[in-house]
Amino acid sequence: MAKDPMRLVGEGVDLELPVLEGSVGPDVIDIRKLYAATGKFTFDPGFTSTASCESKITYIDGDKGELQYRGYPIEQLAKDSDYMEVCYLLLFGELPSKAEKKKFTDDITNHTMLHEQLHRFFSGFRRDAHPMAIMVGVVGALAAFYHDSTDINDPHQRMVASYRLIAKIPTIAAMTFKYSIGQPFVYPDNKLSYAGNFLNMMFSVPTEDYTVSPTLERAMDLIFILHADHEQNASTSTVRLAGSSGANPFACIAAGIACLWGPAHGGANEACLNMLEEIGTVDRIPEFVARAKDKADPFRLMGFGHRVYKNFDPRATVMRDTAHKVLAELGVDDPLFDVAMELEKIALEDEYFVSKKLYPNVDFYSGIILRAMGFPTSMFTVLFALARTSGWISQWKEMIEDPTQKIGRPRQLFTGTPQRDYVPIDKR
Ligand code: CMC
Repeated sequence: MAKDPMRLVGEGVDLELPVLEGSVGPDVIDIRKLYAATGKFTFDPGFTSTASCESKITYIDGDKGELQYRGYPIEQLAKDSDYMEVCYLLLFGELPSKAEKKKFTDDITNHTMLHEQLHRFFSGFRRDAHPMAIMVGVVGALAAFYHDSTDINDPHQRMVASYRLIAKIPTIAAMTFKYSIGQPFVYPDNKLSYAGNFLNMMFSVPTEDYTVSPTLERAMDLIFILHADHEQNASTSTVRLAGSSGANPFACIAAGIACLWGPAHGGANEACLNMLEEIGTVDRIPEFVARAKDKADPFRLMGFGHRVYKNFDPRATVMRDTAHKVLAELGVDDPLFDVAMELEKIALEDEYFVSKKLYPNVDFYSGIILRAMGFPTSMFTVLFALARTSGWISQWKEMIEDPTQKIGRPRQLFTGTPQRDYVPIDKR
């Protein structure tokens, strides 16, 4: 049943705006005709009230703490599925049959190797370059190598580009790490699982035998599942905006990686661990909690709070369990984990955090797990980018295939100086 339109009345305007109903979630007011009818824009910096697109991929209910990929709750996917299946689900909308899953996994596996010439890119970077800087450069450069998958109007090329990105991103990610520590690059091993192959490329060396631990392989796969998509967050919106101009998918994903790098987004897991290191010991926690509450101090507790989740982050719940399991299985004894556990306890009880609904988010726990697994802090956001590539490319594909898609072009409220005449330099 069609919804009653909303009436906008005032300033000489009496306009009916259609109200569109999603399958779940809030209705949206369709304001596409607003400017033509009223000569006015809407003002919504940070897009806190604006649906930028129609999507069928991921649904979040921030108040209830729900996250679903194509309707499937994240908790069920985390428990029973694996990342390859989740990639298929995000891209194609349904869970694969056994045969479909095998074919998809084989196809991805067959694209894991990088063009050999791309290896040379790495030596152009300083060894101490941040791996995210290398990621932005090398992923963007893929467009210079895979010319046969940059025609966005060809569905087959779109699919090949999607597979290439999902397949090659772990290879590039591991290479950024190997380059930073001066070890040889490890080629992908197609006998291994997606997560297992990544761990092997990260941690094996040609001189030693390396066996991927099943516990770590599962934890890695879980981290990939939990980070795979998150509807129209900043980096996904960046991918869509870049793609809306017709830019090729490799360039769009590079743009997404650049956006993800920021500490308010994917960079939070790294920032969180750096913060825990700065806190150092449990007795210093109150000092940092006090700083986080002080309006005059820009310091925030990294890994706490979320734009959408105002009750709890369902990914954090799954991640918290995994963090405890991984720490127990690895028998890790690290004073930083004591700091993290105590900080979690204090913040969950503190009036400031409780009243503002600031809960530990996914990045709080993922940082702890990744550190226990042996990843350096600087790689944390890279892992987020790796996992999010499946979501980005699915959102990009959905956008390109949407017949109503237009170039993204926000408007503005201009508050600068109105027109004035140029003054020659000797008269200023
Ligand atoms: N520590 C202390 N105070 C905070 C924090 C925090 N981590 N987060 C929010 N607040 C306060 C903030 O000062 C504000 O207070 P007031 O209303 O008195 O001015 C109130 O809570 C609301 O904050 P906001 O910035 O308006 O909320 P937002 O929805 O715009 O920001 C956020 C969400 C994630 C950017 C923010 O909570 C934050 O900066 N958190 C730390 C960074 C972080 O962990 N980011 C990872 C997010 S999860 C991974 C991802 O999806 O990328």
